[in-house]
Amino acid sequence: MKGIILAGGSGSRLYPITLALSKHLIPIYDKPMIYYPLSVLMLAGIREIFIISTPEHIPLYKKILKDGQWLGLEISYAVQEQPRGLADAFLVGEEFIGGEKVALILGDNVFYGQGFSPVLKEAANLSEGAVIFGYYVQNPQEFGIVEFGEGGSVLSLEEKPEKPRSHYAIPGLYFYDEQVVEMARNLNPSTRGELEITDLNREYLKMGKLKVKELGRGFAWLDTGTYDGLLEASNFVGTIQKRQGLYIACIEEIAYHQGYIDRKQLLRLGEGLNNTDYGRYLRKVAGCEDF
Ligand code: DAU
Repeated sequence: MKGIILAGGSGSRLYPITLALSKHLIPIYDKPMIYYPLSVLMLAGIREIFIISTPEHIPLYKKILKDGQWLGLEISYAVQEQPRGLADAFLVGEEFIGGEKVALILGDNVFYGQGFSPVLKEAANLSEGAVIFGYYVQNPQEFGIVEFGEGGSVLSLEEKPEKPRSHYAIPGLYFYDEQVVEMARNLNPSTRGELEITDLNREYLKMGKLKVKELGRGFAWLDTGTYDGLLEASNFVGTIQKRQGLYIACIEEIAYHQGYIDRKQLLRLGEGLNNTDYGRYLRKVAGCEDF
C-alpha cells in the first residue's frame, strides 16, 4: 500500500502564524507537525509516501524530509495549486498511486494510543473497499460524522452537519482499495467547491464496501486547527514524553524499529541533532550506555 500526506491549504484559520509558514511545519512540542502523520503511515508499514502541498511550501518539506532515504522511505512530492478538497489528493496523486491501494492522512492530524500499530496494519491489509475510523468528540459539527446503527453498522455519513446525528467524528485517516482514483474522478464538487472526502466515503458505503472502526476512549486524536488545539497538543506530547521518557512520532525511532534503517544510521541521525534532547533520545533508542 502507498501513502499520501495532504499538507496544503491556506491555513487561514491560524493566521497570523501561517501567513508565512506552512501549518504542517508548526511545532507540536519538539517536532514539526508533519512528523506526526508521517509516523502513522510508517507504523502502518507504508514506505512509499507522497506529500501534497502548495507551490510555496513544497521546497520546505523537501528540505526536511528529502527523498526519504535517510529513513528507509521513498518520499516524493506534488503541488496542489488550489485547495480543491481532500478527495482531490487522489487526482493529484493518480500517477503515484499507479493503480494500487492507498492510505490518505491529513497533515494536521495527530494520533496517539496503545494498540494503534496493529489497527493500522490491519487497515493497510484491506482486501477491498475502504476503512475509516470513528472517534467520539464533544464538537461533532466541526467534522465529518458517522452515525452507527445496530452492531456497529453504518447508517449515515455527513460533512460538518449543523445538527449532527452522532458524536462520532471521522478522523483524517483513510484507507482505500484500487478503485479510489476512479471514484474520486466521478465526484462532483460540493457547494463550497471542494471534492469532499465524505462524498467519496458515502460512495463506498453505498456499495457496501465501507468499514468504520471505532477508536476508543483511551485513544487520543488531537485537534491542531486552533491556537488552543496547538497548545494542548504540544502539552499532551510533552507530558507523555517527559513522564515515560518515550517519544511520540519519533520517525527515526520508528524507522529503526520497523527495520527500515540500521543502528549505524540511527546513530548518524542522532549525531546530527547532538545538542538536543531529541538527538540524545536517538542515542538511547540505539542502546547507547550514557542513559
Ligand atoms: O480532521 C478531520 C476532518 O478533516 C474530517 O472529519 C472532515 O470530514 C474533513 O473534511 C476534514 O475537515 P477539515 O475542515 O479539518 O478540513 P480542512 O479543510 O481543514 O483540511 C484538512 C487538512 O488538509 C488541512 O491540513 C489542509 C489540507 N488541505 C485541505 C484541502 C481542502 C489540503 O491540503 N488541500 C485541500 O484541498
